[in-house]
Amino acid sequence: MPVTNFKTPEKYQYQSGFRSYHETEAVKGALPLGANSPQRCPYGLYAEKLSGTAFTAPRHGNQQTWLYRILPSAAHSAFELLNDIPQELDPGLHQIPNQLRWDPFEISHKVDWVRGLKKVAGAGDPTMKTGLGIFVYAAGRNMDANSAMYSSDGEMLIVAQHGVMDIKTELGNILVRPNEIVVLPRGIKYRVDLPEGPIRGYILELYQGHFALPELGPIGSNCLANARDFQAPMAAYAQDAETTWTIVNKFNGKLFTAKQNHTPFDVVAWHGNIDYPYKYDLGRFSVIGSTSFDHPDPSIYTVLTGPSDHPGTAVADFVIFPPRWLVQEDTFRPPWYHRNTMSEFMGLICGEYDAKAGGGFQAAGASLHNVMSAHGPDASTFEKALNMELKPTKVGEGSMAFMFESSLMLGVTEWGLRTCKKVQKQYNEESWTPLQPHFKLPD
Ligand SMILES: [Fe+2]
Repeated sequence: MPVTNFKTPEKYQYQSGFRSYHETEAVKGALPLGANSPQRCPYGLYAEKLSGTAFTAPRHGNQQTWLYRILPSAAHSAFELLNDIPQELDPGLHQIPNQLRWDPFEISHKVDWVRGLKKVAGAGDPTMKTGLGIFVYAAGRNMDANSAMYSSDGEMLIVAQHGVMDIKTELGNILVRPNEIVVLPRGIKYRVDLPEGPIRGYILELYQGHFALPELGPIGSNCLANARDFQAPMAAYAQDAETTWTIVNKFNGKLFTAKQNHTPFDVVAWHGNIDYPYKYDLGRFSVIGSTSFDHPDPSIYTVLTGPSDHPGTAVADFVIFPPRWLVQEDTFRPPWYHRNTMSEFMGLICGEYDAKAGGGFQAAGASLHNVMSAHGPDASTFEKALNMELKPTKVGEGSMAFMFESSLMLGVTEWGLRTCKKVQKQYNEESWTPLQPHFKLPD
């Protein structure tokens, strides 16, 4: 059921549409008419452009936002390395072929969003704008007062698993609840407060390009994630030219801080196309499936894709497995056994994932099946599927699993492999070693 069927507090005002050209002003007349940068902006505001693509990117992919604010972002002190983070966010990566599964990641009640970000896996390099990073976040307190963060490394897709996030962004306020996602473009400043206690979830950061809706091909013009269900914030601003603010910048995996004597949340009006934060309720995803036999590929569950330069090949897809009906006849209904050229990082927001009912894959946990690492249903799921009566069945009720699927080989961080102490030692042995041969020639 869509989360946003419930009443949203008035503080959060949204405009709908994916890739829509939005414009919004918190004060009537704050947006200049016609010109982007008139000699004098209305109300004495400063015009500031945030570009999400090269100026010369093709028109259909060109992304930018114009901000009209009380003081420009450039007014801050020099950045210095933040030294109270016990480890760098981006240490070396371990490239290993093993199937991996993690027990639920813990919430630390002492830390805020900034200190609760942990990189688990990734590929590529923010300095080359290639690849992606996969993080988990877990925090128990608001970000420090008068602090804001932004990432120069990429565009973050945040999957809320536990707790409510009040995200104040330069472009407006967003409320994110479990089963919702929010996308924060590269460079957008934000702060995360916890109005209802601890939070936990997952992040896919695209170092290259931007998230887009997948092509629909023969499916037609509707279904999967519909464009109208994406929500961008309306402009909301604060006026504060006396308080000292701390700006945290994630830059090539390291955290830097600078000070400024004005709030970064002073954008009175803005206009732009998709280079703005937006949220989406996974409960609004319209699921497609087979109504005869066999399985389509799981790409039918793609919510957003981070395309590479090769058509149809994603740096990373965000794929979900929502509650849905299975009706196929004479079909092995769990996923088939497979070895993929893509790597698959999975997480579970809630409930029990229908393809892994053994209990080892838990909400707030994760699994990684890397390039060509063989996997599929565990032995008990296989035996059950072999013998079940194939009636129409609703699976995944009360559950939402997801996958960050990448064409790149994912490396695992030292934190993900060892420091977090969540890797299950017997994942392979417990899942697939018990499989028995069923091969038998007729007598
Ligand atoms: Fe898989």
